[in-house]
Amino acid sequence: MAGDTRKKNEPPAWYAQGLAHAWLPYAQMKTAPPPLPVVAAQGSRLVLADGRELIDGVASWWTACHGYNHSYIRAAVERQLAQMPHVMFGGLVHEQALTLARRLAALLPGDLSRVFFSDSGSVAVEVALKMALQYWINRGAKGRSHFVACKGGYHGDTTGAMAVSDTDEGMHALFAGFLPPNFIVDLPEDETKAAALDALLATRADAIAAIIVEPLVQGAGGMRFHDARVLQRLRALADKYELLLIFDEVFTGFGRTGTMFACEAAGATPDIIALSKALTGGTMGLAATVATGKVFDAFWSDDPKKALMHGPSYMANALACAAANASLELFEREPRLAQVADIGSALGQGLAACRGMRGVKDVRVKGAIGVVELERVDNLDALRARFVEEGVFVRPFGNIVYLTPAFTIAAEELKRLTDAVCKVVGSL
Ligand SMILES: Cc1ncc(COP(=O)(O)O)c(C=O)c1O
Repeated sequence: MAGDTRKKNEPPAWYAQGLAHAWLPYAQMKTAPPPLPVVAAQGSRLVLADGRELIDGVASWWTACHGYNHSYIRAAVERQLAQMPHVMFGGLVHEQALTLARRLAALLPGDLSRVFFSDSGSVAVEVALKMALQYWINRGAKGRSHFVACKGGYHGDTTGAMAVSDTDEGMHALFAGFLPPNFIVDLPEDETKAAALDALLATRADAIAAIIVEPLVQGAGGMRFHDARVLQRLRALADKYELLLIFDEVFTGFGRTGTMFACEAAGATPDIIALSKALTGGTMGLAATVATGKVFDAFWSDDPKKALMHGPSYMANALACAAANASLELFEREPRLAQVADIGSALGQGLAACRGMRGVKDVRVKGAIGVVELERVDNLDALRARFVEEGVFVRPFGNIVYLTPAFTIAAEELKRLTDAVCKVVGSL
């Protein structure tokens, strides 16, 4: 670069000068290794400031489903930027948001038909919880102030979302005593656990607003998979005790588990669904909480107090909605779900060698999610660094090494990722 007097491998000035002022997520700032400076991201490649290229196995927390910087999404955002980046959504609407609302309602199963926009997965969950609480208030039911949520679950980092995550073993256990109390139960993976939940609901249903669950995959809580019967049991119990059922598809939505939404494969439709992450194809923050007509009807009234009192400043941001519309068009124009199926097969084959390796507890694949669960990890930072040495970006958490690549990843790039996982895990 002309005028660049840096020595080889020396980080750029913005890095050295700015890092001391940044507070990074989920990181002990005193001991965390320095983060990698990224200067470009294209397809499944991250380009670092020193010129190195890493093959990306995470798709930026599962958001970048079409790969980074997809020209089709970029063009849509640029067009929208020239026309109108943002207007508030109170009293004003615009084409991108209403088009997206119509599209989401058409894509989602059942009668999920009223879309409330916000800006992140956590807030989409907060809105879902608030809708459920107010659903009962508006209907005149008193005391339905708790939720049933599942052990191993993770629904975000805001207060309400933390309170429906696993408060014993999850990352927010520290706050357990400060959060609103809920019923955190075993996923009804068998009839015994379903009977235990049934027994709880038989005595406490009138204190409960809704059941919330991540369908098919509990993501950040440990990449645990369950099958459709679990969700069908939850639907049946919600119906039996007249509770609302919330699916948090922030992780699973938009193809990750093999169908456009996990609930399609689950054969169970929720009353409220939370979506975010891949909604904009990883371009920018946007979320949607979508309710059925039954839920919406409880808010439809001549009484202003029955309105949903929520409205983030950047809700339905026009750039983000343009990105989301373009992303949905890519799902229509390109064979994304077939690509997910191919990735699933390649992950299954590529990670099979980890089975039986010393220290490996389980290897599992669902859709475009590949997981190698280790018995334990003593030094997470060292493990993460090993992947960078192999030329890939893979970011294990806890004892979980996982791959959630872009659906557009090339076969040879995916092989580099699975080879790296096998090599690194095999060397532990
Ligand atoms: C299932 C689920 N819900 C909610 C969230 C929170 O989303 P965000 O990080 O956008 O707030 C996440 C994030 O990983 C998630 O996986």
